Amino acid sequence: MKDLWNLKIVILVLMGSSAFGQIELTIDGSKSKVKIQPTMYGIFFEDINFAADGGLYAELVKNRSFEFPEPKMGWIQPNTSMHSLNRDSGILRVIRFSDAGGNHNFARISIHNADNYFLINEGYRGMGLKKGDSYRLSFQAGKRGSISGVKFQLLNDNDKVIAESLVALGSSEWQTYKTKLMANETAENARLRISFKGTGEVDLDMVSLFPEDTWRGRENGLRKDLVELLDSLDPGFLRFPGGCVAEGRTLEKRYQWKKTIGPVEEREILVNRWNTEFMHKFTPDYFQSFGLGYYEYFQLAEDLGAEPLPIISVGIACQFNTGEMVPMEELEPYVQDAMDLIEFANGPVYSKWGKIRKNMGHPQPFNLKFMGIGNEQWGPEYIERFDEFEKVIKKKHPEITIVSSSGPYPDGEHFDFAWKELKERNAELIDEHYYQSPQWFKENADRYDRYDRNGPKVFAGEYAAHPKADDGPRENNWEAALAEAAFMTGMERNADVVHMTAYAPLMAHIDAWQWAPDLIWFNNLESYGTANYQVQKLFSTTRGTDLVSVSNNGKPLTGQDQLYASAVKDIETGEIIVKLVNTSDTPKTVKLNFSGTKLASEGIVRTLQNDNLKAINSFDNPENIVPVEKQINLNEDEKIIEITPYSVNTLTVKIK
Ligand code: AHR
Repeated sequence: MKDLWNLKIVILVLMGSSAFGQIELTIDGSKSKVKIQPTMYGIFFEDINFAADGGLYAELVKNRSFEFPEPKMGWIQPNTSMHSLNRDSGILRVIRFSDAGGNHNFARISIHNADNYFLINEGYRGMGLKKGDSYRLSFQAGKRGSISGVKFQLLNDNDKVIAESLVALGSSEWQTYKTKLMANETAENARLRISFKGTGEVDLDMVSLFPEDTWRGRENGLRKDLVELLDSLDPGFLRFPGGCVAEGRTLEKRYQWKKTIGPVEEREILVNRWNTEFMHKFTPDYFQSFGLGYYEYFQLAEDLGAEPLPIISVGIACQFNTGEMVPMEELEPYVQDAMDLIEFANGPVYSKWGKIRKNMGHPQPFNLKFMGIGNEQWGPEYIERFDEFEKVIKKKHPEITIVSSSGPYPDGEHFDFAWKELKERNAELIDEHYYQSPQWFKENADRYDRYDRNGPKVFAGEYAAHPKADDGPRENNWEAALAEAAFMTGMERNADVVHMTAYAPLMAHIDAWQWAPDLIWFNNLESYGTANYQVQKLFSTTRGTDLVSVSNNGKPLTGQDQLYASAVKDIETGEIIVKLVNTSDTPKTVKLNFSGTKLASEGIVRTLQNDNLKAINSFDNPENIVPVEKQINLNEDEKIIEITPYSVNTLTVKIK
């Protein structure tokens, strides 16, 4: 009898799955369940892994203004070690001339024997130069004695000169000089060599070298290939400047936006909190020059057509570090910073901060709509400070949507506490972070099915599947990307609750990273989008305008038979787009029943697929995992789609 029952159970389980048949999906394209937020898929930018200085910010000279705490860091004077006689040829001293403002130091170079003295700047893990490309060099200098000029040379990886320019020095007063250098060879690890004509003293500051070919050709510009990768994602928002860098290890070292605007030479450098965070990834030369500062972030968001989303300090330093908290009675300047930021972004040109924006070249407002209060803070101290920010901001700016934090984890004590408190306050958007295993992502594809439809909206502000397989770029394997895609169908299906999402972190320099996996990897010359990037791009560029229902026997498809699905309609293009993810190693046949809409008899399927879960994109093979497009016929009576193993698919069909 017992055996018979067991047999019955096995049969019922098998019938419940699709082992005896195909999955049948019903897609009702006639009704919009909810509008998909234009911010549904965005990007999270943080200066981690040399993402800003040494990465997106195209400056090639490290410590250009001799401001690092170790002020000669990045600068080498060959033959001038403590024990070398050649130091008699010349010597560089760093002079501190002011404690005020952001520019405190300059270099004073005494040259006794110009033939035997030169300086090298090593760049950020070298400098990437491209054959035939032109580079803008600028510097500030004053001179004494018979010094008549400064020679700038770019050296390739073998110290061969591949570009040079001699600049005449005319004055003992500080002056800004500019020249251009054209590289006659490509070099990944080039360096800048500076030598002198004559003897005497030269004062040098702000030695800067940029490719002329930056994004949109801007002088204080961004690396074009990296922005192009961001642009291709068609991001709905740009979150900046982090991440933990927004918080700082101490309050003194927090990110202060006001110190990152105005003339670049006046922006005071700050240690990057990733500098010594991980002993196994020690990066003592990691500082923030703020050449990429708040103005440039707003400008980038505008270029990308993305909503700017600044995250500002709530008066609590990173709770994984000191967790230092400003006393409540001293919170006011922090709140004022938030208020001033709104004025900087949106205020009229006659307002104090609006005028600074105008003077920097942008009289039009940046149209700021969102602001994050704190990064991944937790506990009652966070809520207490958040309340104060919210009260003051909303009073004057009810139009700003405020993002709050649920802490660093997707569940647990901090998370539950934050959600309870924030829900009671009718918080608008709650930021959730999850760095979890691929398995977790697959198992949690139904996470948001269980959320209160009338509660706060979700900003999945930082997430990534960590396969913990290998270190570095190998963490961006297909297993992780596939699991993220499965999870993303769940976010999309719940677009009434989930309003913003972003993979994190965004980018990493192959020779200077602290955290992996990352969406984009780059070296000094090249960059590529990972498999995870391709997943983000596929979802983002097919986000549609309206969510439509897709069900399997009346239920969402959230891993039954290892299949996952979501569907949207795009009323602008007149299309239905179905997303289907197969995380299994077997092909699947899915029957599609479209109700409520008349559709074209063919559709376009875009597929990301790899049989090897360890497969990655790489510098050698950046297109190993990219979408393959094909046209399929959709029979009038029976619409069938074949889904390959380990694949992410979008089916786009025109509405008739
Ligand atoms: O994305 C890397 C880090 O992860 C972020 O700085 C922080 O917010 C999170 O802990």
